[in-house]
Amino acid sequence: MAATVAPRDLDTLLGPGWRRPGASASALADALRGLVVDGRLAARTRVPSERALAPQLGVSRGTVSRAYDALRADGYLVSARGSGSWLALPGGAVGGSLPPPADVLGRHVTDLSTAALPAPEPLLATAAARAGEALRRQATTTGYAATGLAELRTAIAERFTARGLPTRADEILVTAGAQHGLQLLVAALCAPGDRALVDAPAYPRTLALLRRSRVRAVAVPLRPGGWDAAGWRHALAASGPRIAVTVPDFHNPTGLTATAAQRAAIAEACARAGTILVADETLSELRLDGPAPPLPLGAHDGVVTVGSMSKAAWGGLRLGWVRARPSLIRELAVARADFDMASPVLEQLVATELLAEWDAVLASRRTLLRERRDALLGALAEHAPAWDVRRPRGGMSAWVRLPTPVAARVAAEAARERLLVTPGPAFSVDGTFERHLRLPFTAPPDELLAAVRTLADLARRVDPATATAPDPAPIAV
Ligand SMILES: Cc1ncc(COP(=O)(O)O)c(C=O)c1O
Repeated sequence: MAATVAPRDLDTLLGPGWRRPGASASALADALRGLVVDGRLAARTRVPSERALAPQLGVSRGTVSRAYDALRADGYLVSARGSGSWLALPGGAVGGSLPPPADVLGRHVTDLSTAALPAPEPLLATAAARAGEALRRQATTTGYAATGLAELRTAIAERFTARGLPTRADEILVTAGAQHGLQLLVAALCAPGDRALVDAPAYPRTLALLRRSRVRAVAVPLRPGGWDAAGWRHALAASGPRIAVTVPDFHNPTGLTATAAQRAAIAEACARAGTILVADETLSELRLDGPAPPLPLGAHDGVVTVGSMSKAAWGGLRLGWVRARPSLIRELAVARADFDMASPVLEQLVATELLAEWDAVLASRRTLLRERRDALLGALAEHAPAWDVRRPRGGMSAWVRLPTPVAARVAAEAARERLLVTPGPAFSVDGTFERHLRLPFTAPPDELLAAVRTLADLARRVDPATATAPDPAPIAV
């Protein structure tokens, strides 16, 4: 069942910006088109009838009718007699794809498609040296542990406990990263044809994993203020998803963090609906400034958490974890043994050593990220002042909104110049977010500056209005 937007909510989402004198029907059509292009309303959202919307907006029915006609003519609205009208994307666009991994391309590129830092040195080298000694103690074992090394599981559990979420080692499964943890969960909990609730926008590899698992992603738009509990309740009731996946801290790509009230509301809504809520905490430890985040989402009953060493320490370790009730951990470990048996012992020992120095590891990440975030924001202010960006308080990327919907074309042009960047539609299930680019602030400052200059030039070439057009919409996610 498609989501429906009520007249009042649509009025709020449209904001006052479209109310220009003399051109109200075309301005209204532009504003409505902007909502679906930006993903603030999902494609297939049912819009109010002309009769219901006109009094809410304080315009004539003819104005709404002309706006709807214009959207229909462009393919942004579909109507069926007796059933109403739905927002659409022309040509039924589907979610954009990610650029291939930089090393798969096999040539030198500037890679802004991956949000990741180099290893924390010399901390990694010290941890590796200690792990080398600890390896001797493991030599008498077989080296196979499907749930993970006991000392690493204990260290991960202790870190959860320190963050306010008491955890035992038997609630932890060590995985080959967060993506692997999510893959195991999807395989264990979902069957082909099931649905999974995701954010709009969402981390593209979560969407890709669901597609590959033949699980249908149902997207709930994030709002500028964060997680929309009413939207979640509606989507849960309408589509009955098996699981819901969200990134509650420094969300990738928007940088948003769920408030305590939003966490409680979505956790309760999922529990009531019988949907398993999965918190992807890959970025949770990367707070750069601003208030401390509320208690982890996993503090709510039944919430399963995936986490990772990849962003807080180093992606090269290829280690992450799942936190869940012990029976589910055992089930996941049994299933995991069919694919990759177990994680490498030496890397697990290195991760254990890094967790023993965790404050220093995090401090080294934060120092780099603050400097690089500020370099990125400075470059945007200088070379693309018409682009809209919110200062991220944590995480690794900025979600940048261009004045016109040209993100996929800009990304394609950039790839020709050997600059990889992920356009907004890769973060959606329905091709929306065509005005957005995700720009990680993980590359060195001079690379970021050069990349922003190139992107601004390319965008200007694709559409000169990207340099000058005022942004008609209120701040979007
Ligand atoms: C939100 C999110 N989830 C999962 C991952 C994958 O992490 P890992 O390298 O641990 O598999 C990433 C990596 O960028 C991410 O940003």
